[in-house]
Amino acid sequence: MGAEHAVAQPFTLASQVPLRRGAQLPRLGFGVFQSSNAKASTAHALAMGYRHIDSARYYHNEDEVCAAVHKFKDGMPNEGTGAVWLTTKVQGQEHGTAATAKAVDESAAIAKKYGLTWDLFLLHDPTAGKQKRLEAWKVLLEKRDQGVIKSAGVSNFGVRHLEEIKEAGLEMPEVNQIEVHPFLQQKPIVQFCEKEGIVVEAYCPILRGQRFDDPTLQKVAKKHDVTVPQILIRWSLQKGYVPLPKSDTPGRIQANADLFDFELDGSDLADLDKLDEGFAVSWNPVNVE
Ligand SMILES: NC(=O)c1ccc[n+]([C@@H]2O[C@H](COP(=O)([O-])OP(=O)(O)OC[C@H]3O[C@@H](n4cnc5c(N)ncnc54)[C@H](OP(=O)(O)O)[C@@H]3O)[C@@H](O)[C@H]2O)c1
Repeated sequence: MGAEHAVAQPFTLASQVPLRRGAQLPRLGFGVFQSSNAKASTAHALAMGYRHIDSARYYHNEDEVCAAVHKFKDGMPNEGTGAVWLTTKVQGQEHGTAATAKAVDESAAIAKKYGLTWDLFLLHDPTAGKQKRLEAWKVLLEKRDQGVIKSAGVSNFGVRHLEEIKEAGLEMPEVNQIEVHPFLQQKPIVQFCEKEGIVVEAYCPILRGQRFDDPTLQKVAKKHDVTVPQILIRWSLQKGYVPLPKSDTPGRIQANADLFDFELDGSDLADLDKLDEGFAVSWNPVNVE
């Protein structure tokens, strides 16, 4: 959604966005890439009210994340309050019919040990080339239809990769997880996703701590008496994205979810929208062949 359409909404930590097939995705996620202790950090995030954890096979912490979620759910009085959205991803090296099927089954078995099913399984990246990408995507749809996973999506897919799925006559992903923040707004991908009803998840929403001294960010943070990372995460929410901030630091985990008693106004959003300079802090492989 562009600044002209961005409407400040009464978000809460419990806010969700419906995916195309009806699942409810919690608006604020929690990332665990390069987490030094994913089990402890996930447990802390859940205690702070996050209900959406973003893992990946590549992160080698699916087991830790599932263990933390299992323990948390066990201690909750009823199913509703303990509902946690769990995402994982299969990277390009494991794309292709047989490799992706094996990978999904392995990850599903890890979750099953804890009585869990992955809510969302993503193709982590488009790097495997057209044939293996499409084969991998078909596998995710089949595994979803078989109930092995609940929803299917992609990550780091550019417009050409999304169009390729459409041209192949396959169902479109429900989610595309990309690097997006004020300094990398990915407008063509975002516009395409909006047109196709694909929810955009925002990784590196706080730029791994880079650009925190930017004068515009500093000005807006000062105006609202909050921190720069809070401004960045709030920007992501108000743009309609699903931000996935990561932290292993309890105070930051809490602060990154303390976003619901201020709102960016039209002039803040206009100022932040001017920061777009195509600056990626991560790998951003949205243009690979
Ligand atoms: N699909 C993909 O290809 C892809 C790529 C990258 C990331 N992701 C996902 O997106 C998540 C987030 O991205 P990311 O982890 O790369 O970057 P990020 O969330 O933008 O930044 C995380 C870094 O910022 C620090 N930090 C967190 N909160 C802070 C705060 N309030 N003040 C100052 N520093 C703070 C963290 O340090 P501490 O942990 O030490 O507190 C960590 O070093 C990942 O964990 C992963 O789940 C996906």
